[in-house]
Amino acid sequence: MTTDPTTQTLAQLGDTTPEKVAARFAEVRARFDADVSRQIDPSEWTAFLAQWTGRKSGALTHIGENWLKPAPKELKPVVGQEFQKLKAHVEATLEEKRKEIEAAAEQAAAARDQIDLSLPGVERAIGTRHLIRQTFDELLRIFLSIGFSVVEGPEIETPYYNFEALNIPEHHPARDNMDTFYIEGSSAAADKRATAGKYLLRTHTSPMQIRTMEKQAPPVRIVVPGKVYRRDNPDSTHGYMFHQIEGLAVDTDITFCDFKGTVEYFVREFLGPKAKTRLRPSYFPFTEPSAEVDATCHVCGGTGCRVCKFSGWIELFGAGMVNPAVYGFLKYDPEKLSGFAFGMGVDRLAMMKYGITELPLLFQNDVRFLRQFP
Ligand code: DAH
Repeated sequence: MTTDPTTQTLAQLGDTTPEKVAARFAEVRARFDADVSRQIDPSEWTAFLAQWTGRKSGALTHIGENWLKPAPKELKPVVGQEFQKLKAHVEATLEEKRKEIEAAAEQAAAARDQIDLSLPGVERAIGTRHLIRQTFDELLRIFLSIGFSVVEGPEIETPYYNFEALNIPEHHPARDNMDTFYIEGSSAAADKRATAGKYLLRTHTSPMQIRTMEKQAPPVRIVVPGKVYRRDNPDSTHGYMFHQIEGLAVDTDITFCDFKGTVEYFVREFLGPKAKTRLRPSYFPFTEPSAEVDATCHVCGGTGCRVCKFSGWIELFGAGMVNPAVYGFLKYDPEKLSGFAFGMGVDRLAMMKYGITELPLLFQNDVRFLRQFP
């Protein structure tokens, strides 16, 4: 390896004439040009710069130290001029090269970040309203459209609202059908009507009939959506929590005809214009007379099939004319007022309408099930 000429003096190199000096500079410049024209990786750049313009051992510093400083008087002007020319050339070229390298690095980064719009996207599943929610919405829509308004009430109730004021006294057999979750509550004393500090989880939405009529003078036209609780053994049609919508209409001139008309309208809206309604005598302590509302089977249309157990009819919900005994618990005059009430199981209606045979499916929230009801 030949020694780097810039570490020697011009005298040592034998460059004693202006021509030889010029040739020597030309040689350095050619070496620089060759060096700078190759591709330089951004990571090498600092080292590359140091090699040419580094203050301690860059080629330019060596030339200043070894060629210019010790140059004999007669050569000094030539060496000085050549040196300035070389320096200017090196600096200008390096500046250009620096810009080039930066631009290339920027371009490479941009290419790396580029989004390929032709790639298939990630599809994010959009949630849907739960089937029970959908059924609630549909049921409430129907009642709102005929002038009912929606009210909601507490799930923790007192025996007074859940039973007594609905004409279900302490040892009434109707209490047995509603196996009740009781809660011992000390704050219960705050409510005068909580017997012996007892609270319970409401077994139906009917208590809101009383709570509403306590607060509001007639006319009343409400529907009450909500959760209710019973000590049932869970099976394919029972759970310890389910959903109901209660309805109540009380005014000065409500007749059984209004009741029947409302029920028939509801059934046609919910099951379709061909659905027929049948009222079957039944018993509830808070209605008199009471009825079980049936509709023609939505699957066979009434001719009989497995779903309706070949009867042609499907049981929908319980209802009736408000029992005047209930008004006795309120400031409502039974001589002047009349009304009707109903209470429907939302889960049951959803299962019936959508052909679901297993109640637990409604609560397991398996998306493969839920997605079938977008
Ligand atoms: N509360 C009753 C139940 O849970 C349903 C019911 C029947 C509500 C008749 C009513 C009614 O308002 O009039 O089984």
